[in-house]
Amino acid sequence: MVGASDSSRPAAGGTRKVHVKSFGCQMNVYDSDRIADTLASQGYVTTATPEDADLVVLNTCNIREKAAEKVYSELGRMRVLKQEAAQQDRRMTIAVAGCVAQAEGGEIIRRAPTVDLVVGSQSYHRLPQLLAQAQHGPVIDTEFPPEDKFDFLAPPSDAAIRARGISAFVTVQEGCDKFCTFCVVPYTRGAEVSRPVAKIVADAERLAQSGVREITLIGQNVNAYHGEGPDGRAWTLGRLIEKIAGIRGIVRLRYTTSHPRDMDDSLIAAHRDIDALMPTLHLPVQSGSDRILAAMNRKHTRADYMAVIERLRTARPDMAFTSDFIVGFPGESEQEFQDTLDLIDDVRFSTAYSFKYSARPGTPAADREEQLTEAQKSERLLRLQGAVLRDQDAFNEATVGRTLPVLFEKPGRNAGQIKGRSPYQQTVHVTSPAARIGEIADVTITEAIGNVLLGALADELPTPALMEVQRA
Ligand code: SAH
Ligand code: SF4
Ligand code: F3S
Repeated sequence: MVGASDSSRPAAGGTRKVHVKSFGCQMNVYDSDRIADTLASQGYVTTATPEDADLVVLNTCNIREKAAEKVYSELGRMRVLKQEAAQQDRRMTIAVAGCVAQAEGGEIIRRAPTVDLVVGSQSYHRLPQLLAQAQHGPVIDTEFPPEDKFDFLAPPSDAAIRARGISAFVTVQEGCDKFCTFCVVPYTRGAEVSRPVAKIVADAERLAQSGVREITLIGQNVNAYHGEGPDGRAWTLGRLIEKIAGIRGIVRLRYTTSHPRDMDDSLIAAHRDIDALMPTLHLPVQSGSDRILAAMNRKHTRADYMAVIERLRTARPDMAFTSDFIVGFPGESEQEFQDTLDLIDDVRFSTAYSFKYSARPGTPAADREEQLTEAQKSERLLRLQGAVLRDQDAFNEATVGRTLPVLFEKPGRNAGQIKGRSPYQQTVHVTSPAARIGEIADVTITEAIGNVLLGALADELPTPALMEVQRA
């Protein structure tokens, strides 16, 4: 906390503190880290709480109405903190970044005058200059600039990478050209752009050198990746994965979020051939009804989706699938909702995210007249979640007794425990010295408690004890 005698401007060389709060998807989590890295190069250190920050950045999400409204309740809190700081003769700058910033621009400052700076999702590399300008009055930058922000963002320091842990995100693709009729992303993130292979590989190598073991390649439409390769040609995601799997130190790869239309042969072959690529896929389907899929402009049928699942299961029999669902899309009948439940019964997802349809301003579906009531949507959501939970529990239960490779990430909740992730993203706790964090080890799963698995290191497992657990 800066003392009351400090001036409102930190002394030259003085440390300024930034608090970055992320809402929404993995892309925002990644962007928030890059915002922190860029500000670190300007002398800011990150702080975990907004109370003592000189700068607060809210990196916002606009996907559903609730997400967008959360920003304004958060800004109400920030207004109070900013006033308290001012009473201590300390200036607190409030910046709103991300997808709400992109969608609403200056409207944010009209609704919440406490905000000093609004910066869209493609211009946050300009933050240092924008912050300087914001000292003289409110600033708004929601352009889609011609330059590539990644060329201007400061790279993370070795210390920052290590502090973030052994699993990291790398953006490979951004934006979306699909224009599903319910979705704001094509408007808030802009057109699809793929980063060149060489830059992604350089980022991945830097992460690996600083101890990262698992990389998740991210993009709004990650499998539409078509970045320029070293040979001057467009590379597919499958080819990019093969290249990154060859980086020393990288033992696990994942990618998200995919669109069913873009699961090409090279990506399916990557699941068959590349051990580092985990046997999981998040493949949003949204609905099991062909009429609703068409109304959503998803550009695929239910049969197309099932065919992709089958091809992947043939390539990699131990593949597990997760998905996203929207219930209560305008005009969805009870039978069409049943079709979605029926698709869930057919696929048996290891888990899924489900949402009530939220009408978003500016999207085509928002103008449709046959909107369902909140009560109808809530009732369908509950039924859908029941089906998903049934399959999720069954999936987790089925891992009991199996031996799975676990990548250990951090200390567990209890002393003497560490925890990590199975190939299927389940959290696994074992009793083990902390020295094994960062390693992959075989763990025999002894118990499933919801999403959390308990296990014993296979190389230290006293067999009779395991038998006891399995009997219990
Ligand atoms: N690019 C990804 C994810 C986009 S947003 C994809 O193509 O699937 C993540 C999820 O939010 C979507 O999959 C969808 O299930 C949900 N979503 C998007 N817009 C929504 C809306 N208007 N109402 C409710 N859920 C929505
Ligand atoms: Fe949104 Fe559809 Fe694009 Fe996914 S594919 S980001 S749901 S428009
Ligand atoms: Fe939200 Fe933007 Fe991601 S709207 S889901 S933060 S792309």
